[in-house]
Amino acid sequence: MPFIIAIDGPAASGKGTIAHALAEHYGFHHLDTGLLYRATGAKGGDPVEAARTLAPADLERDGLRSSEAGQIASRIAIIPEVRSALVEFQRRFAVQEPGAVLDGRDIGTVICPDAPVKLYVIASNEVRAQRRAAELGADPAQMLSELRERDRRDRERDTAPMRPADDALIIDTSNISIDEAIAAAISIVDHRRG
Ligand code: CDP
Ligand code: CDP
Repeated sequence: MPFIIAIDGPAASGKGTIAHALAEHYGFHHLDTGLLYRATGAKGGDPVEAARTLAPADLERDGLRSSEAGQIASRIAIIPEVRSALVEFQRRFAVQEPGAVLDGRDIGTVICPDAPVKLYVIASNEVRAQRRAAELGADPAQMLSELRERDRRDRERDTAPMRPADDALIIDTSNISIDEAIAAAISIVDHRRG
């Protein structure tokens, strides 16, 4: 049976970095599910239609990592029909041998509720804003208010809100290095795999 690692958490908490490193370490497939929402929003037009017709080329579009694309993604991500249009792709991705790592907001709660490993990655608002500002060459104060707005929208929506699954383990990356965060995640996964 393929092994599934579900990773969720707020913007710029470090979940993508950890997901990528785990996939490399175990030779698993990796899906950044945020990219599906960013690409859906970037297509423009009717978001439900955009989600239903999302194609691999849409994920290669320029500008998907921008702050603006993140804000648009979180606005279309509240629409239940957009989310349901993207479920099957994610679930099929998750069951590839020998395993898969998916990171997003609802992987442990909705997409892969039976995943044997669920991580919820957090960091303080200030640290996350600093990191995203450094990445995008933007102003940290501006990033802080944008991240807060996006997190609030993600947490408060009715369908698949951002929250840790009951059986998720929390990793707080505020005061640890990337290497330490990856090592912590690997030790959790190794323990679960037995
Ligand atoms: O995927 P997510 O938006 O949660 O965050 P990320 O893209 O993995 O990380 C955001 C930024 O924080 C990247 O530039 C990482 O290199 C950095 N980071 C860090 O400085 N320390 C960590 N423990 C994790 C990530
Ligand atoms: O990298 P960062 O954490 O900043 O954002 P992302 O993971 O690329 O996600 C962008 C937006 O897509 C989020 O703010 C959510 O609104 C939405 N999203 C979602 O609703 N469900 C997911 N599984 C992944 C992303």
